[in-house]
Amino acid sequence: MKTQRVLTGITTSGTPHLGNYVGAVRPTVRASRLAEVESFYFLADYHALIKVGEPARVQRSTLEIAATWLACGLDPEKVTFYRQSDIPEIPELTWFLTCVTGKGVLNRAHAYKASVDKNNAANVDPDAGVTAGLFMYPVLMAADILMFNAHQVPVGRDQIQHIEMARDIAASFNHLYGEHFTLPEAAIEDHVATLPGLDGRKMSKSYDNTIPLFAPRDQLKKLIMGIVTDSRAPGESKSTEDSALFQLYQAFASPDETAALAKAYVDGIAWGEAKELLFERLEQEIAPMRAVYDELIQEPARIEKTLKAGADKARAIATPFTARLRHAVGLRPLQTVAAPAASKAGKASAAAFKQYRERDGLFYFKLLDAQGALLLQSTGFAAPRDAAQAMAQLQREGSAALDALSSQIASRGEASALETALRSFSEPGV
Ligand code: TRP
Repeated sequence: MKTQRVLTGITTSGTPHLGNYVGAVRPTVRASRLAEVESFYFLADYHALIKVGEPARVQRSTLEIAATWLACGLDPEKVTFYRQSDIPEIPELTWFLTCVTGKGVLNRAHAYKASVDKNNAANVDPDAGVTAGLFMYPVLMAADILMFNAHQVPVGRDQIQHIEMARDIAASFNHLYGEHFTLPEAAIEDHVATLPGLDGRKMSKSYDNTIPLFAPRDQLKKLIMGIVTDSRAPGESKSTEDSALFQLYQAFASPDETAALAKAYVDGIAWGEAKELLFERLEQEIAPMRAVYDELIQEPARIEKTLKAGADKARAIATPFTARLRHAVGLRPLQTVAAPAASKAGKASAAAFKQYRERDGLFYFKLLDAQGALLLQSTGFAAPRDAAQAMAQLQREGSAALDALSSQIASRGEASALETALRSFSEPGV
């Protein structure tokens, strides 16, 4: 079975709260530990520029979110964890995709339409205060996803439309230029709870009712004591339904613990006491992670290094892939002989390099012919960049590079097939 590639981005526009933790961070970190997935997680800081006009806040949020994911157990050795703006190929791909995206499609994007509806309701120009960044948001997001040919994109319901747009954009590009992109699918985590906030509505920055995940212990306690409850007195039986306090507890507690609290509700536990229970239960899960978080936050240089290493891994894929896409759309060295129209059978099923990482932690590449037969297999490289360089040399120099790289080639297929395939890179169109 082919490994599923899972990818998701987190916009760096705020401080992670309990809702983010329960809805996204915790399930994602758990899923990333499964052996059969290859995951990509990134800090969507280009996206942050769409809504945040404060440079210091973008930077701070990037630090906080990176530290949060690491403190919550994301293993940057096992997954590819990077910052969007470290991958200059993303804006380049955004432009390629922009040129195959219908403007009318973007007119219908929810985020843009919501702004227009609001303006219409206020009787002002429909596009008042709307930036082209907001309008183009779905294309940037498509580039994030398509760059790594993700199969599955875990997102909230509000993002489903964007994944559908990414599919459509990918299909348009493939139709015009050949089969380059995998069509992604949204993976909706239906079973994870939506947490209520302090006021009982959905926990969300826009309602200003959040509990920061790594608020200091004292502040956490104070916030929990402020959760809205009804006016039932101690001793009076209480309803678990519509109780924000109960739902928060449930998101952290075991089924047994939850059942015990439900019983205490019936038995008339005092709100203050219930809040104390919630606080203690939260602390049990959060305190150890908070200790790691507090340490990481003090060491931005260490996080920076982790992100840069992640960017290296990501670019080992993005750089050669973008080179291939540039060629596909016609951004080519002038001496290369023009290929016949790319979209039809020919180009679509050409030989292809594949890069991957094995369980031994090393980076490999292989060359497959149009039918998927192995033509060349590399040895393992410690750094993704070295694998990418060897691959680039083969693409550039063709079979002339085989001798120079012989110590990095583990096995070769049939010689003339290999030579023909390599020539399709070094002399495209021949
Ligand atoms: N727009 C997403 C959000 O606001 C974040 C995001 C950016 C994203 N790029 C992505 C999510 C790519 C999934 C895939 O939640």
